Amino acid sequence: MFNGQTFLITGIADENSLAMYVAKQVKANGGNVICTGLGVTQFHKGLSEKAKAFLDKNHDDFIEAVNNGLGSDTVTEVLDVTLDENIEDFARSLKEKGIKLNGFLHAIAMDKTIRGKEVKPLLEVTKNEFCDTMEVSAYSLIRLSYYLLKYEVLQPGSSICSLSYIAAQKVTFHPYRNISIAKAALERITIELADELGRKNGTRVNAIRFSPYMGSKAGNATLTQQDYDTSNKISPLGNAGPQDLAAEVVHLFRPGSKITGEIRHVDGGYNIMG
Ligand SMILES: NC(=O)c1ccc[n+]([C@@H]2O[C@H](COP(=O)([O-])OP(=O)(O)OC[C@H]3O[C@@H](n4cnc5c(N)ncnc54)[C@H](O)[C@@H]3O)[C@@H](O)[C@H]2O)c1
Repeated sequence: MFNGQTFLITGIADENSLAMYVAKQVKANGGNVICTGLGVTQFHKGLSEKAKAFLDKNHDDFIEAVNNGLGSDTVTEVLDVTLDENIEDFARSLKEKGIKLNGFLHAIAMDKTIRGKEVKPLLEVTKNEFCDTMEVSAYSLIRLSYYLLKYEVLQPGSSICSLSYIAAQKVTFHPYRNISIAKAALERITIELADELGRKNGTRVNAIRFSPYMGSKAGNATLTQQDYDTSNKISPLGNAGPQDLAAEVVHLFRPGSKITGEIRHVDGGYNIMG
């Protein structure tokens, strides 16, 4: 289907990341992938030993997952979306290498107010915690799009897809509070960008609300087995799995589609329930 087209896949932390499932499906459909992961960059200043060790470990896991899952010839880059210079440098380097993108997956989220599956009440969320979560989980979609367009890496007719959750709209049986607000912002950004980038570049921008999934680092840090089981029971088709998600991303990436500004559900029908 993709006939050698190239897609940027962000958000691979390890082999269980949702982004890894998407990358494999893109390749299975004849596309190429470029993958970004967290790690130490020249733009990080004054990192503590602990922070450096965290980023190094992230990078090792990312590279190992990509080598094993996608092949050691896969192009990988370090990207921390909290560093504007890093995003610009990344986009510039793609331009210099002559790499053109037919789309990208935004699979990035972070919320330090969820610890050991405990969610901090919204009333106690600090300004820094609120802004950090917004920056990483929502604003990064704007910034990444901006630099990829600035360096003419993102091709006309390209497709952008990001990953959201029903909590962007509804209080669920396991309320997420802070990250829910960032997901709501991510979805609104999706719609506003769909208008701007559709007119500017013929680029489509969509988001997918996905079922709870405990396999990934983020999912495992936030969800309990009970959360998963409850959602599975409520959803008419049961929870969707990562392969279902990947199939829908590939569908939204396919060339020539007229779908844009959509907030789709790949959730076994959870969203229709009262
Ligand atoms: N797991 C679920 O239940 C579920 C459900 C719906 C939506 N999602 C969304 O899917 C996406 C991927 O999550 P996942 O479940 O695969 O977990 P994951 O932990 O594998 O992926 C989260 C990614 O965000 C990256 N990240 C965090 N801070 C970053 C930064 N500053 N710069 C760059 N990257 C950064 C991490 O490195 C990691 O790769 C997220 O947006 C998440 O909210 C997950």
